[in-house]
Amino acid sequence: MTTTKKTPETLRSARWFAPDDLRSSGHRSRVMQMGYAPEDWVGKPVIAILNTWSDLNACHAHFKQRVEDVKRGVFQAGGFPVELPALSLSESAVKPTTMLYRNLLAMDVEELIRSHPIDGVVLMGGCDKTTPALLMGATSAGLPCLFVPAGPMLRGNFNGKILGSGSDAWKYWDERRAGTITDQEWLGVEQGIARSHGTCMTMGTASTMTAIAESIGMTLPGASSIPAADANHIRMAAASGRRAVEMVWEDLTPAKIQTREAFENGIAVAMAMGCSTNAIIHVIAMARRAGVDIGLDDFEKASRKVPVIANVRPSGETYLMEDFFYAGGLPALMTRLGDHLHLDCLTVSGQTLGADIAGAKVHNDDVIRTLDNPIYAEGALAVLTGNLAPTGCVIKPSACEPRFLKHSGPALVFDDYPSMKAAVEDESLDVTADHVLILRNAGPQGGPGMPEWGMLPIPKKLVKQGVRDMVRLSDARMSGTSYGACILHVSPESYIGGPLALVRNGDLISLDVAARSIRLEVSDEEMAARRAALTPPPPRYERGYGWMFNRHVTQADKGCDFDYLQTDFGAPVGEPSI
Ligand code: FES
Ligand code: MG
Repeated sequence: MTTTKKTPETLRSARWFAPDDLRSSGHRSRVMQMGYAPEDWVGKPVIAILNTWSDLNACHAHFKQRVEDVKRGVFQAGGFPVELPALSLSESAVKPTTMLYRNLLAMDVEELIRSHPIDGVVLMGGCDKTTPALLMGATSAGLPCLFVPAGPMLRGNFNGKILGSGSDAWKYWDERRAGTITDQEWLGVEQGIARSHGTCMTMGTASTMTAIAESIGMTLPGASSIPAADANHIRMAAASGRRAVEMVWEDLTPAKIQTREAFENGIAVAMAMGCSTNAIIHVIAMARRAGVDIGLDDFEKASRKVPVIANVRPSGETYLMEDFFYAGGLPALMTRLGDHLHLDCLTVSGQTLGADIAGAKVHNDDVIRTLDNPIYAEGALAVLTGNLAPTGCVIKPSACEPRFLKHSGPALVFDDYPSMKAAVEDESLDVTADHVLILRNAGPQGGPGMPEWGMLPIPKKLVKQGVRDMVRLSDARMSGTSYGACILHVSPESYIGGPLALVRNGDLISLDVAARSIRLEVSDEEMAARRAALTPPPPRYERGYGWMFNRHVTQADKGCDFDYLQTDFGAPVGEPSI
């Protein structure tokens, strides 16, 4: 129910459109230039629809139509919708990595909102970085807003087998490298793995981040699980438009929703979903925009308490997001989390999370498990520290072979991606399944942009011997659809002189997930001597966006935001002056 806190006179957009002066007259005449009459906008909330559609973003292909559904909802509720295109970050097209541009989209969003005559916002995103970027920017802007997730694509299909985004691409690629499938069969995988618009339908970064957006209260209840191609998705888009108008009258800003408890809900849900490791970086950055100090500790604590109960690949073996939706979706999963959630948190619905999920039911106990029958007893992620990663690194134990959870092996180090890529294809490479493959200079500044290179390919020689997993270690990230014993996000990164820069071939690396430790078995004296001999790498960029990026990006354990975009950096920006 709408409780009015804003009036037509106190709408933010009235500053542009209402005064009887020359500047406002200009604003009005230009709206009329587009064919609108005062009846279309006077006294009505202006709802910006920030659309991250592009011809190169396959995951958002339906946004060109879906934005019309959001507009329909805005009109129905008595608002005035305006579509504003925002930077479209296509995970499958952008090089070197969309992570280089997450903060650029966040800036785009914040400044689009700040500079235009807008009262409320609908954020349209879903492909990996778009979700955190939209929420980060909109949180900094501070107007009432809600998020419309693109929705997962339908299950993949190849020769009668169900294919999952990413995960099965890696899997069948290894089979092709091993010579167990033909080129023709590989083509079938390529054609069948992405059959509809929508985001990756495994529990990759997209499904993880949209579930987090919902559980922190920033989407309509149930929105994140609806497949993109389902008619429910269209209705959800229109309902989001209607709700955005009401949120303006209620003055329901993100600051009222995104509390510490809300982010703790997001982290608990991420764990229960078997989330992408990328969640850590994004949630830390999002929370800090909301003025909430979330750190690796919060993930570590949650991971020890909350079991993985969503049986979705890659942590699960069988099901995909489409199955998860049919099983009841995220509201149903949340009913199973009991004390792990703060049910009194407010959401964009205007009511509590508890009220939002009341009545949700699980329809398939194998897809959404109970807490005492999880697919993995501890949470999805573990944070490790030690002399090799003083401020932390991350592993996804639920997606790796259990024998690697405690492991010692000699290092085989690569300084860049091209040399690693060439070496792993070389069948004379001196490597065993016990080696720890290391890729460095792949962090936030070194990558640059911390690319998803962390699932280093298993050397071809070992693949042919049947090896499908081994310990890999890097300051990179990995795709949420990846799997294996990959230790990621080593901080500080090697490019800025983190201890990873000191490792040499043959050094012993010890990993103990139960003890949450990662060690380079080299004496402190030897480490100091190696450090003294280090020469700093050349700059990655000498002009342009990359130059700015490398000066201001924070390390992985701090969320990789730009320092100057963080909420506590200087006085608030405030409204445009004239
Ligand atoms: Fe867009 Fe995976 S490529 S979500
Ligand atoms: Mg991804």
